[in-house]
Formats: sequence, C-alpha cells, structure tokens
Amino acid sequence: MEIIISYPILWVKNKKMNEKEFIKNFFQSSNLTPVRQEEIFARIAQFGAKSKEHTPKRDFLGLAMQKFNNILPKFDGFWKIIEKRKTDRNFKGVFLKFSVLEKIIVSSFGKNRKEMGNFYHRTPSAGGLFGLQGYFINQNVQGLKKGIYYIDEEKEVLFLINEEVPLNLGKIFFYNDEDLFKKSSGIFIISTDMSLTADKYGVRSVRFALLDAGHCMQNICLASEKLNVKIIPIGGFDEEKVKKILKINNELEFPIYSAILGK
Ligand SMILES: Cc1cc2nc3c(=O)[nH]c(=O)nc-3n(C[C@H](O)[C@H](O)[C@H](O)COP(=O)(O)O)c2cc1C
Repeated sequence: MEIIISYPILWVKNKKMNEKEFIKNFFQSSNLTPVRQEEIFARIAQFGAKSKEHTPKRDFLGLAMQKFNNILPKFDGFWKIIEKRKTDRNFKGVFLKFSVLEKIIVSSFGKNRKEMGNFYHRTPSAGGLFGLQGYFINQNVQGLKKGIYYIDEEKEVLFLINEEVPLNLGKIFFYNDEDLFKKSSGIFIISTDMSLTADKYGVRSVRFALLDAGHCMQNICLASEKLNVKIIPIGGFDEEKVKKILKINNELEFPIYSAILGK
C-alpha cells in the first residue's frame, strides 16, 4: 500500500505556506544550506509504511562512560506511575465514570493558576499561549450524555457540539479493530489552533504546536495510568473526517493527536 504524505497548507498572516517554507521552518535552527535541507526532506519523504524493529542508537563504545541505574523508587506514587505507564489495548468494555474522566481532562487541559490577568495550564506551552483545542468523543462514560464535546477549560465546561457519534470510528482512526471501538469509553482529540499562536511565532508555531500537544498528551497518559484507565495514543487518523465531526471551520485549526480510552 502506498502512503502519501501530505502537509497542511498553512495560512499565516494571509501568506500561504508552501512545502519549501514548511521545510525551512522545520530545519530553522540547523545550519544546513537550503539545498541540503530539501535533499534531506526528499530522502525522508521517500520512506514510510515499512515496519521497523529496534535500531541501535549512536555508538560511542571506547569512550569513558558512567553507568546509571535504571531503577525508580518503588514506594512513591509518582515514580510508580512513570514506571507503569504503557499503551494498553486490552479494553474490557467496563464503564468509565465521569468523575474519573474529568480528572484526566483537568490534568491536561485544566488551568492551574492566574498571573497578571492570564490563566495558565497544567502543561507547559510555548509562550504560555496554549494553542491547543480539546475534544472528547463520548461513547461509554457513565454520567455524561453520549456525543462529541468541546473542552472549554476557561469556563470549565464541556460543550456538546455534536450529538451523533459516528458508527464507523474504525474508518476515521487508523485502528483496525471495530471491537476495540465498541469496548472503548471515548476518544480524546487534541487540535492545534494556529490562530492563537501564529501572530507571535509565525511558521515556528508549526513546531511548537507539536511540542505543546506532546506535553498535553503526556499528562493525559499519566493521569490515565494513575486512574487505572487504559489508553492508546493515536497519531494516525483521517484529519478531514475528524475536522468534519468536530465541526471545525477554522482554516488554522488542525487535529494532530488523539487517544482512545477504555477500561
Ligand atoms: C506520536 C504517537 C503516535 C501513535 N500512533 C499510534 C497509532 O496511530 N496507532 C496505534 O495503534 N498506536 C499508536 N501509538 C502508540 C504506540 O504504538 C505505542 O506508544 C508504542 O508501541 C510504545 O508502546 P508503549 O506506549 O506501551 O510504551 C502512537 C504513539 C505515539 C507516541
């Protein structure tokens, strides 16, 4: 199967960002010449769709070394969570309670303090701008009406934006197991909204969007682990279909990361 990699065409301050600019942005902090950047990009772009086993990293054998112990303290809750965290696809289809879900939501999207009139979040974000939008597709959460929700962390509410949950989730999220979707509690979706960050960061907001989303998802993963909720982070999905069900009309907003939750 051939996989075609496509990049979002981005409008930043009414300027269409083409592939060349995307490459330039990605390699911004390197001292590679523009020609070399494009060569490397072309090299990466010709790959894809192959599965790859573990490959050894850089090998400095022969140099002086210092051993470190790969051991975390066992009796501290924080270390235990870091130790235990894993992707768990073995959903049993048991109800997830809303009181549990809301803890995962506020660990990732919640605000934790106010400084000089601005509120800040529980995850770091470039410039404290938090250019992310959060959504939750509720399939099976006890105490929350079925449907698709927008997370408004400032008002501390979930808005029901779509009462319809698509039946063919397996065609939207690239996880080839309908049974898993039937047993799942719901799906988190993180989108990046560059209208919140581009004024300050320009094309650099592309890179920061990915980093911000990673921080946010990490908190979703760790909070899920703490609460005994199973989670599968999913980077593979059909962006256009996701935008449609989330009713996103903003050209600068792109869904970039998701996670299936279950018990
Ligand atoms: C950025 C990212 C994208 C991922 N996308 C998918 C995906 O599309 N489908 C999937 O089944 N798992 C996906 N995963 C889960 C990984 O397969 C999983 O994290 C990996 O196998 C390592 O296992 P662990 O999380 O238990 O350590 C993704 C993980 C990350 C971090």
